[in-house]
Amino acid sequence: PTIYLKDYTPPSWLVEDVHLTFRLSPKATRVVSRVRFVPNAAVSDRSFFLEGEELSLIWARIDGQDVTPQVTGQGLTCDVPEGPFTWEAEVEISPATNTALEGLYMSNGMYSTQCEAQGFRKITYYPDRPDVMAPFTVRIESDLPVLLSNGNKGEAGDGFAEWHDPWPKPAYLFALVAGELVNLPGDFTTRSGNKVELNIWVRPGDEDKCDFALEALKKSMTWDEEVYGREYDLDIFNIVAVDDFNMGAMENKGLNIFNSSAVLANARTATDANFERIEAIIAHEYFHNWTGNRITCRDWFQLCLKEGLTVFRDAQFTADMRSEPVKRISDVLDLRGRQFREDGGPLAHPVRPESFQEINNFYTATVYEKGAEVIGMLKRLVGDDAYARALDLYFDRHDGQACTIEDWLKVFQDATGRDLSQFKRWYSQAGTPKVVMTEDWKGDQFSVTLKQVLPATPGQSDKKPQVIPFAIGLLDRTGQEVVPTTLLELVEEEQTFTFNGLQARPVASPLRGFSAPVILERETSKADQVFLLAHDTDPFNRWEAGRQLAKSALMEMIGNGAAPDADYLDALRQLVTDDTLDPAFRALCMGLPSEDDLAQSFADMGRTPDPQAIWDGREVMRAAMADVLSADLMPLYDRHLVRAPYRPDAEQSGKRSLTNALLSLITRRDGGAVAQGQFADAGNMTQQMGALSALLANDLGSLELASFAEQWAHERLVMDKWFMIQVAHARPDLAAQVADALTQRPDFAMTNPNRFRAVFGALAMNQAGFHHDSGAGYRLMADWLVKLDPVNPQTTARMCSAFQTWRRYDADRQGMIRDELLRISALKGLSRDTGEMVGRILGD
Ligand code: ARG
Ligand code: ZN
Repeated sequence: PTIYLKDYTPPSWLVEDVHLTFRLSPKATRVVSRVRFVPNAAVSDRSFFLEGEELSLIWARIDGQDVTPQVTGQGLTCDVPEGPFTWEAEVEISPATNTALEGLYMSNGMYSTQCEAQGFRKITYYPDRPDVMAPFTVRIESDLPVLLSNGNKGEAGDGFAEWHDPWPKPAYLFALVAGELVNLPGDFTTRSGNKVELNIWVRPGDEDKCDFALEALKKSMTWDEEVYGREYDLDIFNIVAVDDFNMGAMENKGLNIFNSSAVLANARTATDANFERIEAIIAHEYFHNWTGNRITCRDWFQLCLKEGLTVFRDAQFTADMRSEPVKRISDVLDLRGRQFREDGGPLAHPVRPESFQEINNFYTATVYEKGAEVIGMLKRLVGDDAYARALDLYFDRHDGQACTIEDWLKVFQDATGRDLSQFKRWYSQAGTPKVVMTEDWKGDQFSVTLKQVLPATPGQSDKKPQVIPFAIGLLDRTGQEVVPTTLLELVEEEQTFTFNGLQARPVASPLRGFSAPVILERETSKADQVFLLAHDTDPFNRWEAGRQLAKSALMEMIGNGAAPDADYLDALRQLVTDDTLDPAFRALCMGLPSEDDLAQSFADMGRTPDPQAIWDGREVMRAAMADVLSADLMPLYDRHLVRAPYRPDAEQSGKRSLTNALLSLITRRDGGAVAQGQFADAGNMTQQMGALSALLANDLGSLELASFAEQWAHERLVMDKWFMIQVAHARPDLAAQVADALTQRPDFAMTNPNRFRAVFGALAMNQAGFHHDSGAGYRLMADWLVKLDPVNPQTTARMCSAFQTWRRYDADRQGMIRDELLRISALKGLSRDTGEMVGRILGD
């Protein structure tokens, strides 16, 4: 059934408090609940419904009297008193056979939970909706040594532990962990002097991978106090690493549960990119304590209220800890790669969706990343001071509440006096706006005309103009800024903005810092782009100019058989060899637009993309880059190679990303000698992986691949990289075969989402391999989605998005993909998760 935002009704019953007792047993865990219900005075309807799925009800009582509820597969109803009453029930569940990794499940001998969004109903009967908030008391009975739940510690003794969480919370923030775990302890004293116990809990053997996470947690706690004035509010904060986990991590109150890949790291086993991601996810989950937990969502349509804001906050944190421009460029790369792709296809949906079948399918790039962009635009429009005032008001006014986007915008309206009714369209209109820019020069006047074009998306054909904050600067021919960054507000469909009193026609630097998540379309000369790449004072736009040049050059090569563009290559060489520039920035400039990005650009021009030709074109361009830089590669590499003891900070990691980028070009020319050397000498995973991927990308490295597997056979997270890198670098005609062979290894297990994604996520990313005209990529993917769906619907449904761009390809490929999608959708017992995704992708 489809659920609609417009059908929201408040709960009939509220919960005053909850007591849960768990008697843990792998296949027969008993959960006893005692819940105090009170009527919600705000509504007259008194019907009583508790969600519950896959539970065996043992008994139920109301105010101490046995009752016999009417039970269905979705929950139960029961006759209840008119006034407050106490509900008690006992259910039995089987964590050991729960492979969906939702509710209470077992992973490598430990018990763990994942309740967001609707997993608590697999633990006990309860009003499993975020607008029902209550304090929880939990008792865990088990012989396992470590027994954890939310809140502060209560009594504990032989075979049991109790926990009390005083802060009212919705059931999706409930968590329980039990196992043979070890901890890295720490502490933090809050600004007002409360001492908080911190722990990172891991399985024995992983103790040496916790330090970085603990430091990241402390930095996050300090940052949220300093920047948002938010302090932690319990005596203890626990983080647990779990190997089998569907997502990155979960912000359960006082007990964050993490995919081990999002927390465990040391220099030997994790790359710089892993460290950076871990720092960001630790921060993200910690920041949810205020934006998500203390203030939560009224219903799941409001998901972006907590996710968009928390992603925005973690991006600010990373920018502060590392480099702001590098973070912005990486985020825009990610936004274009995942969110624009989603927004441009059959899965497009508004930042605040209006309907869903399975909410797990809406933990998307649109809700998260576009949701964060919307907050960034709001901040730009009102200014930093007003943003700070609005946030203070938000925390003041809504602490302890379950809120909506309307509440959020009202806070800004009240704090700034600004009417945000038009801005609100960002939350309801799907699709990436296109902004067409034209320029005019007359006398001493430079004018810019902006026109917004809002594409039709599924279910939304007619759209109204949005508020587009458009940051622009103007440069003169010497590179001096004649007009510093200025914010234009595009609110009409088309508007002209004029700059007066200029000496000469300036060069425009538009959409600085990527001030709005839009596609900018403009006529511009190659000379201007080369100029901006060399001189723009806005680092984002400097990078963007290079990217546009690379893209046009590649499009000409792939589409029209042109040779690599000499002006672009020359400009790139200038930049890469400029040691005054941040190495991380130079490495980003050396990256080429992705295969998917190029495919979409062809589709936008009305041409059918040819995945093999795109792959070939990028190879030719890389070879040309290696040629142009031939004399510079080794000196640059030597100058920037990090030989000092490993630190995962921005400075060192920038140098390593530059040397790794250089190494992949060097390897094209030297037959692999330098990469083999780096592989042999590497004392850290960043350099080891950098060398291995340079080798594999050049059809070398089989010895290194084997020795890597031998060295790391007992490190699951490192072996995930080993699985991934082979599929990522497989030649297009071999990709499916390589992936298939990997799935036949004894250490491949589809029950572990990380391992499954290592192979199939990489296959989907290897565009020329996945879309190879044999259809082998499509077939293999569908075969495994069919196998995985009964085991783990959430991960299956996510992986279906590999097919979301299918309409851009030729009739043969479309036909093959349609057949695979139909094969999946015809499966008996197909999950609601996958059923919804396949249905939306097919467009029915
Ligand atoms: N709230 C978590 C986070 O963003 C993600 C939980 C995702 N859960 C899910 N069922 N999709 O940090
Ligand atoms: Zn989140």
